[in-house]
Amino acid sequence: MPGGDKGEQEGQGLSFFQQQQLVDMAKKAFQQFVGLLKSATLYPPAHPFLLGSAEQLLLCLEQLFTKRNEASFHFVDGELFFETFSVSMEEHLARTAEDVTKKGIGGITFQQGLKRDELVTFAYLMKRDPDTVSAQGGMETLLHQGGVRNIAVHAILLRGAGREEQQQEKKPLEIYHDGVEAVKEVVHAAVAGKALNARRLQSISHTMVDNILDNRDALVGLTSIKSYDEYTFVHSVNVAILAMALGAFLSLKRSQIAALGIAGMLHDIGKVSIPREIINKPETLTDQEWNIVKYHPVEGALILSGLLGVGRLAMVSAFEHHQQFDGKGYPRSGDEDSPLHPFSKIVAIADTYDAITSARVYYRIETPPGEAVKLLLHRRGFHFDPVLVKTFVNMVGLFPLGTLLRLSTGEIGLVIHQTRDLLRPRVLLLRDYDGTEKEEVSLLEMESGRYKRMAVSTVDPREIPIDVNQYFQ
Ligand SMILES: [Fe+2]
Ligand SMILES: [Fe+2]
Repeated sequence: MPGGDKGEQEGQGLSFFQQQQLVDMAKKAFQQFVGLLKSATLYPPAHPFLLGSAEQLLLCLEQLFTKRNEASFHFVDGELFFETFSVSMEEHLARTAEDVTKKGIGGITFQQGLKRDELVTFAYLMKRDPDTVSAQGGMETLLHQGGVRNIAVHAILLRGAGREEQQQEKKPLEIYHDGVEAVKEVVHAAVAGKALNARRLQSISHTMVDNILDNRDALVGLTSIKSYDEYTFVHSVNVAILAMALGAFLSLKRSQIAALGIAGMLHDIGKVSIPREIINKPETLTDQEWNIVKYHPVEGALILSGLLGVGRLAMVSAFEHHQQFDGKGYPRSGDEDSPLHPFSKIVAIADTYDAITSARVYYRIETPPGEAVKLLLHRRGFHFDPVLVKTFVNMVGLFPLGTLLRLSTGEIGLVIHQTRDLLRPRVLLLRDYDGTEKEEVSLLEMESGRYKRMAVSTVDPREIPIDVNQYFQ
């Protein structure tokens, strides 16, 4: 993960809103940086427009310097980070970020004491073509020669870098299975009326945070695992992963993301009180049976009421996850104006998304991920917080991981990564459908000014002899 420990330390103690403020400031600074680079291509060094641009950027950075000694930006796999916080980018910002990385620059740090003229010199150096820059000794040397002391550039950080080492520790699938086992353990303890020990869940959720921050797609891809037999456990782990991924996407603190994981794993713990015949009943439930099902949030909160620390947040979201954004869900709070805890709203979105993409007894058919996204969008403002739904859709994309796409070339692609364009993910080209395919392509790839491949339609996984899970394991 890019960013120094310092950011993480200073991130501690910041409220959610303070963090969002910081990320907003960082985004403004990056926008100004893009503006300055553009000015440098249009105007000569002493032109008032150019100096004005540099002045604006300096003001934004100085605002950041009131909170930090330095402001560090990193570009990783098409994403922009301010320290460890992900910063959303519009198309034109993403394009600049891409141009910067093409010059071999993976990050830029601006230090306190920075002068306007250093920014101007840097902007002009950025105009030079990469080959010339490397022939002249590289950007760092040129900055030094140009008298720039308060700007440093960093090499490109690859997400894959260091992963091998980590894989030896634990693979995403192992982490996933650990999660399922831990949920099972807690559920069995709850059924037996024993005291719950959240410690194991805590350590697993921390491992999951590391994994998600390192490579969100690997663990999120595993949420396409849907199991009939172990539905409750697998569903709980999927909800945890999706909620954590959304938390990471919102630049929440590491500890908050871990707490979201625990909340996700425990959100349906109250279902232990529902008789199996009702849970597994394929026919429509009677009113009486529905009332029993609707009691699970209350039961969950009661079971979790003994937990301390982060367990408190799990208790709140277990209680609130079906209350809905408009307060018309269950259990009725009696006070429809009292807002739900943000964790409950996040868990509710992850819960519905996983439930509708699962082949389960209630629905009988598996809904493709793209349809689930549409349903969330449809219910935003009623069932779900509209801003969080929008963020969730930005995260999973309009074609979420695991979606099968028919391409303009006639090929079939499996979505394996999102890109900055929601309609143009990275896909694995499928030929044999046996999990051995290796050729990955980005639908952003261009050839003579046109997209090489486009998504024409989605493909129902039942039309093809394919087990999508094997591609994510
Ligand atoms: Fe539930
Ligand atoms: Fe659920």
